[in-house]
Amino acid sequence: MVTVGLIYDQLRPDERLIIEAARRDNIDLELYDTNQLASGVTDESDEVELADTFLQRCMSYFRSIHVTAILESKGKPVVNSYKSASTCGDKLLASIHLSRAKIPTPRTYLTFTEESSLLALDKLGYPAVLKPIVGSWGRLVALIKDSESARSILEAREYMHPIQQVYYIQEKVNRPRRDIRCYVIGDRAVAAIYRNAPPNDWRTNTARGGVAENLPITPELEELSIRAAAAVGGGAFGVDLMENENCLVVHEVNHTTEFKNTVRVTGVDIPKLLLDYAIQQARN
Ligand SMILES: Nc1ncnc2c1ncn2[C@@H]1O[C@H](COP(=O)(O)OP(=O)(O)O)[C@@H](O)[C@H]1O
Ligand SMILES: [Mg+2]
Repeated sequence: MVTVGLIYDQLRPDERLIIEAARRDNIDLELYDTNQLASGVTDESDEVELADTFLQRCMSYFRSIHVTAILESKGKPVVNSYKSASTCGDKLLASIHLSRAKIPTPRTYLTFTEESSLLALDKLGYPAVLKPIVGSWGRLVALIKDSESARSILEAREYMHPIQQVYYIQEKVNRPRRDIRCYVIGDRAVAAIYRNAPPNDWRTNTARGGVAENLPITPELEELSIRAAAAVGGGAFGVDLMENENCLVVHEVNHTTEFKNTVRVTGVDIPKLLLDYAIQQARN
């Protein structure tokens, strides 16, 4: 019997759903709390070698990719792989991969100074969006309405960690007050939701009060989401899309995705599908 390792830093409701699904289906699941982990890098360490395949569920991006690197160095399959997780976790790398795969994605510039950012903003036009290259839940994702607000927002970034001075600047997509999240596991789009923006925010993240609504998967959504997942290296993802005036654009591929709201509104058993996918990786 294949044993699945669940790697986590906090047990959110989503991880608890994975634990429940494993119990329900008699899947052998081992929990690995990264807070307790001391992984041998040069020394042999057997503590993470108990499981045959792993679901990486750390909330911390840096923690997750580094633990994944160690597991892969020991020959273990991890969902998601270091390659795809590190690509998705860095918005610039994700944009490069999406763009190379000819997947419609918002126009984006990378800059490092106020002067070059203002030039990029002139090319994109206002309003535009500034994002941290690494981050989630819409944190520090800022709407820039004009050059005055651009200057103030960029000035504030100067006082933050140097990673916040890598400016990822994007056109604001003229979308309705919602976006789309489509879950791709392997080569299948398994569930999708609209995320409706809350009254007090332009961002749609459910972590900021965005409201999930079931969305039947259309052929366009299916095709684009599967292509986006393949473009970042394949695995299990939450692909985020926006409705542009006449087509869908992919703005993000999430590699450790929360799914509790999607399970609630779609009825799709995403935790079970994730476990099955991890087990399938061990058999490949
Ligand atoms: N280019 C854009 N145009 C319009 N809205 C956007 C754009 N980029 C992001 N948003 C809004 O901001 C939210 C957060 O942006 P996202 O790139 O997904 O960052 P995060 O990783 O923090 O979720 C999106 O879910 C969407 O609602
Ligand atoms: Mg997002």
